[in-house]
Amino acid sequence: MGDIARLSANISSFRYPDGTVALSDINIPVAAGEFAALLGANGSGKTTLLKIMDGLIRDYQGEMLLDGSNILKLHPKDIYRKMGLVFQNPDDQLFASSVYEDVAFGPRNMGFDEQTVAERVGVALEQVDMAGLSAKNIHHLSYGQKKRVCIAGLLAMGHGILLLDEPTAGLDPMGEQRMMELLSRLNRESGVTIVMATHSVDLVPLFLDRLHILSKGRVVRGGTPEEVFTAPAEMADVKLRLPYIAELIHQLKNEEQMPFKRIPLTIGEARREIAGLYGQGHVDE
Ligand SMILES: Nc1ncnc2c1ncn2[C@@H]1O[C@H](COP(=O)(O)OP(=O)(O)O)[C@@H](O)[C@H]1O
Ligand SMILES: [Mg+2]
Repeated sequence: MGDIARLSANISSFRYPDGTVALSDINIPVAAGEFAALLGANGSGKTTLLKIMDGLIRDYQGEMLLDGSNILKLHPKDIYRKMGLVFQNPDDQLFASSVYEDVAFGPRNMGFDEQTVAERVGVALEQVDMAGLSAKNIHHLSYGQKKRVCIAGLLAMGHGILLLDEPTAGLDPMGEQRMMELLSRLNRESGVTIVMATHSVDLVPLFLDRLHILSKGRVVRGGTPEEVFTAPAEMADVKLRLPYIAELIHQLKNEEQMPFKRIPLTIGEARREIAGLYGQGHVDE
């Protein structure tokens, strides 16, 4: 991970026209290559912040920087060459009749010739495991497939930064896992910088570098999953909870006095901790 901030959100305040103060005192840098989450309950300000990051909301107090430049001073083309936002509901984003036509829209609009467009669409569909479905009617896709087509549409434009609003919401358990694996692969193998909004606490620790917990429009905690998921009471205060596995070990440690040295966040870590406690510390990584 590099240390250059690709995004830097310094928003002292944003209110909607009806007077709702949706964000206050936000300071979030996102480094090149980072996979970060905005984690928060409904109404905490995640979608609003993603829209500010993408330049869609503009009338806030503060400054939003993309590669060091004030996003309000950039030409939309300079933003959309680098960064794209995947909406929570794919039906708000998809509009063409076929998968191919939808994914081709972005690169066509950027002025690539048809052959380059076709190449870009092919690579992007492969990246989201949708190769072979390019002729399919958008209306006949599953919800998860639609979400992946939305992501392909942005990848085909060559985005180095993806903003995703609740990419796992509405998916079944396998779909959630697959989506996180897909995003993780894009991040690790293709170097895509990712910021995703989510309220899912059980899946995120497995994949993410950095969490920013939002509550009532403010960042109440930030750090690695290990740093953030320590205190159940604090999580409850912001209408979240610890991952189930962490909650279990926390209770065993504090209420049954079992001598866990740390609170694991994933099943793999918990398995090693428990095996360690019983003198069988040889569990494979
Ligand atoms: N268009 C809008 N007009 C007025 N208030 C809004 C609008 N959109 C969102 N809000 C309010 O702003 C706050 C943050 O909303 P949002 O960013 O959608 O949160 P989240 O994505 O975390 O659920 C909430 O109080 C919500 O009711
Ligand atoms: Mg939202």
